Amino acid sequence: MAYSETNVVIGGLAHIPVVIGVFGLVQAFIQSKIGESQSKNTPVTPAPTATKSPSRKTAHSDVPVNTYKPRDPFIGSVVENYSLLKEGAIGRVNHITFDLSKGNPLLQYVEGQSIGIIPAGVDGNGKPHKLRLYSIASTRHGDNFSGKTVSLCVRQLQYEKDGKTIDGVCSTYLCNISPGEKVKITGPVGKEMLLPKEEDANIIMLATGTGIAPMRAYLRRMFDPTEREKNNWEFRGKAWLFMGAPKSANLLYDEDFKQYESQFPENMRYTKAISREQNNSKGGRMYIQDRVLENAQEIFSLIEDPKTHIYLCGLKGMEPGIDEAMSSAAKAKGINWSELRPQLKKAGRWHVETY
Ligand code: FAD
Ligand code: A2P
Repeated sequence: MAYSETNVVIGGLAHIPVVIGVFGLVQAFIQSKIGESQSKNTPVTPAPTATKSPSRKTAHSDVPVNTYKPRDPFIGSVVENYSLLKEGAIGRVNHITFDLSKGNPLLQYVEGQSIGIIPAGVDGNGKPHKLRLYSIASTRHGDNFSGKTVSLCVRQLQYEKDGKTIDGVCSTYLCNISPGEKVKITGPVGKEMLLPKEEDANIIMLATGTGIAPMRAYLRRMFDPTEREKNNWEFRGKAWLFMGAPKSANLLYDEDFKQYESQFPENMRYTKAISREQNNSKGGRMYIQDRVLENAQEIFSLIEDPKTHIYLCGLKGMEPGIDEAMSSAAKAKGINWSELRPQLKKAGRWHVETY
């Protein structure tokens, strides 16, 4: 089924009575608990519970998936391909945009999804390359707001083996591709990283490197003026981005985020962990989990709010570190993280996409 914003609006409206009902019950329960606690003269600091995000069940049923499959991919063309890095940065990371306008059906997607790319050429066995997934870095309206482009944020994989530099197949293909070239695209896929519909949701984002891709889409949806006009979604919650990069020159989309922060100081917060320029309290490299620990009180106060969602994206290796940081931060508040995290996950408030 083709996805349209109208479907979302109609779907959302149809569920308003249910949502209001559930909210009413939850509110009444919380009020009664607060009342109990106050009447016993105990401090009112309820431990966070993983209350279900109100519209979780119904919110994403109309999100498109697998419009184009590997056997019959969409052929898009490159609109632009430029470096996101500044002088002195490590490696190679590009922003690449594809034109989708020739699609029939149109390849439509929403923020937080991924697409597959099938690199040109054949592998060592003479077989066509397999697809690689990439998180979409644009909103559903695309960078030019036509609704007919999709953008990616791609790091070229390079590693040393037996004294030789090996280039990753697909990431190198993408970083080298020129405007006008044709590319095989599949998808979209993924419902793990979708944004909630509530305009007053709080969104905590933990990103390393290209893990910023979905976050860039969320933040544009929330704060870019033209995007806001288009999407009819007046975000008024709190968005807090923790971004990990090796050097300042490697910070991706940094100017945009700083601008959102200065234009929406009540709603946007931007905390950086620049591993090779900053040290953590133990003198080691500053990682986002160190920033999480520094801000544990505020993070856990936000998590107490059932409208708060947490998104993790980027290096798989960051997961244990984040878990450890959340554990000790939770402990300081008398909360058991290993119990809370699965509850948050079940409630659709803990979103992870690492690779
Ligand atoms: P390949 O040629 O496939 O090489 C990868 C292989 O090389 C590995 O499987 C491993 O066997 C080997 N290898 C890798 N590193 C080493 C090493 N240090 N030493 C020895 N061997 C090694 N990437 C992005 O850049 N941006 C994104 O937004 C993004 N989003 C993703 C979203 C999802 C859901 C997933 C699953 C992955 C995402 N990726 C993203 C990663 C992407 O899919 C590719 O895996 C990545 O680009 C590498 O592909 P490649 O074809 O260049 O490398
Ligand atoms: P470093 O490489 O200095 O150890 P990029 O993809 O651009 O390289 O950025 C990834 C960022 O994530 C870097 O700052 C990198 O630090 C950092 N990083 C590496 N390992 C981890 C980890 N286990 N947990 C959190 N951050 C990490």
